[in-house]
Amino acid sequence: MPVLTTQVKTDKSVQREDSATQQHGSNTTAKVTLQSVSKTYANGTHALLNANLEVKKGEFLFITGPSGSGKSTLLKLLYGQELPTEGEVIVDECNIAGLRGDRLSLFRRRIGIVFQDYKLISQRTVAENVTFVLQAQGYTRKEIQRRLEPTLKLVGLLSKADCFPDQLSGGEQQRVSIARAIVGTPPLLLADEPTGNLDPDNSWQVIQILQKLNSFGATVIVTTHDEQLVRRCNHPVVQVINGQLSRK
Ligand SMILES: Nc1ncnc2c1ncn2[C@@H]1O[C@H](COP(=O)(O)OP(=O)(O)OP(=O)(O)O)[C@@H](O)[C@H]1O
Ligand SMILES: [Mg+2]
Repeated sequence: MPVLTTQVKTDKSVQREDSATQQHGSNTTAKVTLQSVSKTYANGTHALLNANLEVKKGEFLFITGPSGSGKSTLLKLLYGQELPTEGEVIVDECNIAGLRGDRLSLFRRRIGIVFQDYKLISQRTVAENVTFVLQAQGYTRKEIQRRLEPTLKLVGLLSKADCFPDQLSGGEQQRVSIARAIVGTPPLLLADEPTGNLDPDNSWQVIQILQKLNSFGATVIVTTHDEQLVRRCNHPVVQVINGQLSRK
C-alpha cells in the first residue's frame, strides 16, 4: 500500500475502538467470500455468472467494469439487498441467505454503505442524515455529537451541517452519503461509485478518507469507473465484465 500523503484531517474519534483495529495487519481471515455465485433478476437479466471472490479482513479492493456489468449487484449481494440465485455469499463467516428480520438488521449495522444514488432523506439536514442511523442504533446523544463533527470535517461539510440535501451540489450530496457510511466506523465499508459525481481533487480526497478508514482496520470494497484513480492507488482490482469476475 502506498504511503499516505493525505491532507485530510482525521480525528481519533473516527478510529475503530474494537478489536479489529488491533488485529489489522496480522489477520488473514476472509471477511467476504463468494462461492459460485450467480444472480439472475426476476426479468431474466443475468447480472452475475459463477462469481468467486475472497476478500481478506483489512483488505482494500477496487471493483471496476463497464456500466451494467454487475458491480452494484455484487455489492447488493454483500449487504443482503439481493439474494443469489445460485451459490453462497458469506460475510463474517455468516451465510447471508440465512439472515432475516432482526438478524439481518443487526448484520447490516456492521456495514457502512455508500449507495450509488446516495439515498439521502430530503426532509432531514446534513447532520441529521449523517446521524440518523446512529440514533436508530441507540448511540447516546453525547457519542453522536462526538462523532458528527470530525466526520463532517473529514468530508469537508462542517459548514453545511444545517443544510437540506436539495441545498447541496451533487458532489456535496455524495460526500454526505460517505459521511453517513463512515460515521459509525464500520468494520466493512461498501462504496458504490463514491467518486462518481466528484472532480479529480475531491475524488482523491474521498479515496484518502476510505484509505484512512482502511488503515484503522476496516475492510473496504469500492466500485469505480475511474481507471486513473485506480492506477493512482496500489490496491488489488477485480474486474467485472458481463457478470464475470477476474482479478486484474
Ligand atoms: N432490479 C433489477 N432488475 C432487473 N435487472 C436489473 C436490476 N438491477 C440491475 N439489473 C441489471 O443487471 C445488470 C447489472 O446491473 P448493475 O447495476 O449491477 O451494474 P453496474 O455494473 O453497477 O452498472 P453501473 O456502472 O451503470 O452502475 C444490468 O444489466 C442491469 O440492467
Ligand atoms: Mg452500479
